[in-house]
Parts: sequence; structure tokens; C-alpha cells
Amino acid sequence: MAIAPHMNGKKEFANGQREVVIEARDIVVGFGNHIVLNHTDLDVYRGEILGFVGGSGSGKSVLMRTIIGLIHKRAGSIKVFGVDMDKACDLERRAVERRWGVLFQQGALFSSLTVMENLQFPVREYLKLSQRLLDDLAVAKLEMVGLDASVCSKFPSELSGGMTKRVALARALALDPEIVFLDEPTSGLDPIGAGDFDTLIATLQRTLGLTVYMVTHDLDSLHTVCDRIAVLAEGKVIAAGPMETMLKSEHPWLKSYFRGKRSRAGYQPQGKAMTPGVTV
Ligand SMILES: Nc1ncnc2c1ncn2[C@@H]1O[C@H](COP(=O)(O)OP(=O)(O)O)[C@@H](O)[C@H]1O
Ligand SMILES: [Mg+2]
Repeated sequence: MAIAPHMNGKKEFANGQREVVIEARDIVVGFGNHIVLNHTDLDVYRGEILGFVGGSGSGKSVLMRTIIGLIHKRAGSIKVFGVDMDKACDLERRAVERRWGVLFQQGALFSSLTVMENLQFPVREYLKLSQRLLDDLAVAKLEMVGLDASVCSKFPSELSGGMTKRVALARALALDPEIVFLDEPTSGLDPIGAGDFDTLIATLQRTLGLTVYMVTHDLDSLHTVCDRIAVLAEGKVIAAGPMETMLKSEHPWLKSYFRGKRSRAGYQPQGKAMTPGVTV
């Protein structure tokens, strides 16, 4: 089928349908008797920034880790770039893995390695490059996330929270991925730091045409950078769509999350909803 390139890496088929880059179907994941994901479905479209939300402990990280193959699922299928990850041979799977980058919620960086070594770690796994090229690549990735070469020799313990997140993002970008998975990238940052990080993600998405899968609790991120939001509750994705859809929903969880007292909409006079994309 013909694919027409669009702005920001978003692609549409000639019939107007968007290209699905991640297709998770009927996913069941549990630990002992505890079922975390109970027949969960999710689609992620090429070139979008998907914000993935849900209560604490609802399974957001588990789903992300299941998609990237780090957690065993009891049932269901996951296709990435159309490749069924269970049916793919090792070579095919590695070829797909090479096309994504990940920023984990915890342990974003290896503490015993310098920033430079952290950045080069995923590259060494896949490519045989000279040390000089590896060094140049690391510096280029740091520049992309707004850091200069002076941080190369530092250890993670010497970095601020915001710098750590940026280095982790640079590492996720090391292999020029098409998809980046970010698990709560702005947690632990102050609002200004979080806002700067959101801007960085939006800029990188635009310039590199990335697809961004972002687990987040941050309502500001959801309003300002996410094209679509998916909501996980009781083991299922209960809603997926743009912020307008979330704000209109009468589902109790969505209503309390997006329109409750702590939401941005809740701060508006007469409870008037914010226009998505507008920062206050
Ligand atoms: N490796 C594991 N072993 C046992 N239970 C786990 C494991 N990983 C996650 N869980 C449980 O799965 C549930 C969802 O966890 P998680 O996906 O980390 O939540 P969150 O939505 O906050 O990211 C939690 O109850 C957590 O305790
Ligand atoms: Mg989590």
C-alpha cells in the first residue's frame, strides 16, 4: 500500500489510515495470582507522541516492558513494524530492537560507567565502530539533548536530575531509533525542568520524525506535547484518543483524572476545559 510522508514523520496510507507501528493485542501478564494486564489492546501510530497514563501500580511500566520483550506474557501478540515478535527469528527480532530506544523509569544509567561509556553502550552492542567515531557519536547525541561534551567524563552520581534524564534520552537516541519508549521521563524534575524536557521531546519528535511512547503522570506533558493519550485501568486500556476525547469522557476514572480538582481543567472558572496545547 502506498504511504504518503507527512510533517513530523507522521505517515498516512493513501486511504487516509495511519500506519500502526506497535500493535498489542489481547495481552495477558501476571505475576503469580496477580493479573496485571487482562486482555489489553493498544495501537501506536507512526510519528505520534502517545501519552500513556494510569494509576500507580496499574501496569504502565509492565506493558511497556512487555512490548519491548523484557516481561513474559501469558497470552496475546505484539507486532512492531508489522513483525510479530513471537514468531520472528532472533535476527529479525534484533533488527526490530535496533529500531527503538528506551528510557527506563528506574536505573536510567549505569552508575559505574561515565556518561560517555553509558552513551556508547547500546552502540557497541549493535555496531562495530572505531573509538573515534563512537566518541563523535556520543558528543553529537549529547548536543541533541542540549548538553555539551564537558559532561562526557562525569559519572551519573555527579549529574543533576534534569541532566540525568537528558543523558538517558541521549542514550535512547544513540542508535537513531524510530520509536522511543520513555517511562516517566519528567518524574522527579521540578516544573520548569519538566517543561524544558517536554519541549525537548516535542522538538526531537518533530525534527527526527520519531514515534514517542511516553508513560507519564504529568498532566502538563499530556496537555502540551501528547497527540493522543491512552489510559490503563483494571488491566485494560479503557480509552485512547486526543485530549479533547479525554476531557469529554464521562468514565469515572477519566473524569476524576482529567477534570478533577487536581487537573488543569479543574482550575478553570466554571470548570471550563483548557484548550489542548495551551500552557498556563
Ligand atoms: N517483576 C515483577 N514481579 C512481581 N510483580 C511485579 C513485577 N513488576 C511489576 N509488578 C507488579 O505489577 C503491578 C504493575 O506495576 P507497574 O507496571 O510497575 O506499575 P505502574 O503503572 O506504576 O508503572 C504492580 O502491582 C507491581 O507490583
Ligand atoms: Mg511505572
